[in-house]
Amino acid sequence: IQKIAVMTSGGDVPGLNACIRAVVRTAIFNQLKIVGIQHGFEGLIAGDFVPLHAQSVSNIIQLGGTMLKSSRSELFRTKEGRLLAYEKIKKENIDAIVLIGGDGSFAGVNAFIQEYADIPFIGIPKTIDNDIAGTDVCIGYDTALNTAMEAIDKIRDTAESHERIFLVEVMGRDSGYIAYGAGLASGAESILIPETKADIENLENILKKGWNRKKASLIIVVAEGDENGGAYKTAEMVKKYMPTHYVGICILGHIQRGGSPSAADRILASRFGYTSVIALLEGKKNIMVGIQKNELCFTPFEEVKKQHLQINQSTLNMLNALTS
Ligand code: F6P
Repeated sequence: IQKIAVMTSGGDVPGLNACIRAVVRTAIFNQLKIVGIQHGFEGLIAGDFVPLHAQSVSNIIQLGGTMLKSSRSELFRTKEGRLLAYEKIKKENIDAIVLIGGDGSFAGVNAFIQEYADIPFIGIPKTIDNDIAGTDVCIGYDTALNTAMEAIDKIRDTAESHERIFLVEVMGRDSGYIAYGAGLASGAESILIPETKADIENLENILKKGWNRKKASLIIVVAEGDENGGAYKTAEMVKKYMPTHYVGICILGHIQRGGSPSAADRILASRFGYTSVIALLEGKKNIMVGIQKNELCFTPFEEVKKQHLQINQSTLNMLNALTS
């Protein structure tokens, strides 16, 4: 291979720029030409390419967002969209692509490679939700977790001063990773996640017990994907349990997707970016880079699926002990 491309697809996360930098620097170090595909698959379909040099990625390792922009593309889900993408790849003489994306992007590319087998892809997992199988951790999760934790710490200050109850809703469309991590790290009284029902069954008990033993504030962290309907619906329930209390709601939302990446995310992004280009040079293709037990590993795209947070009895026992 002589010329590769790099792109970011799906929801952005902190650490994308650090990853793009690693891909570009490794490619150039190995005498490869490299272009950026802008605006994700939408940009690929439109032929939106930009040449990249070592200098193009200077001073970006610390920046949130993605210098290449991103999109969630409906068009790439269609045969027509994928044909247009293939034509643009051939016209630009691109030999291989590094795709920094999530499980949706990898499913899209898996459909593409069934139709056009001559373009090798290497995937790099990123999502603040951390719910991609084949890796213990995805780029962006650590920073999002810290953002959520810092926000909850601040809400705790005001909740304590005014002796209030707060529900804090964090992101996680189908996944409780952020809620679980940020809730644990901030000492939340209760954590509600899509992976278990035991948390909601215990909520009234936890709140009443906390108040009876004169806690000055109660914080409930709710994953947006929690089946009880997120913070607003859960607040209705809490008001029934504690009718005389102030019950505040704070939705953290997209604040969790931005900001300067943590050291852990920069390091992970750099390792994944470097490894993706080396994998291409070694002739590997159509696999996602991951990290398991601190060892880099690869998973074929067709095996990449959603990963679910494992909440077993010993985790529930721990949460019970720490929240009581
Ligand atoms: O998948 C990452 C994520 O941030 C989810 O937690 C959230 O539900 C979703 O993306 C929001 O997507 P969008 O930015 O397109 O609204």
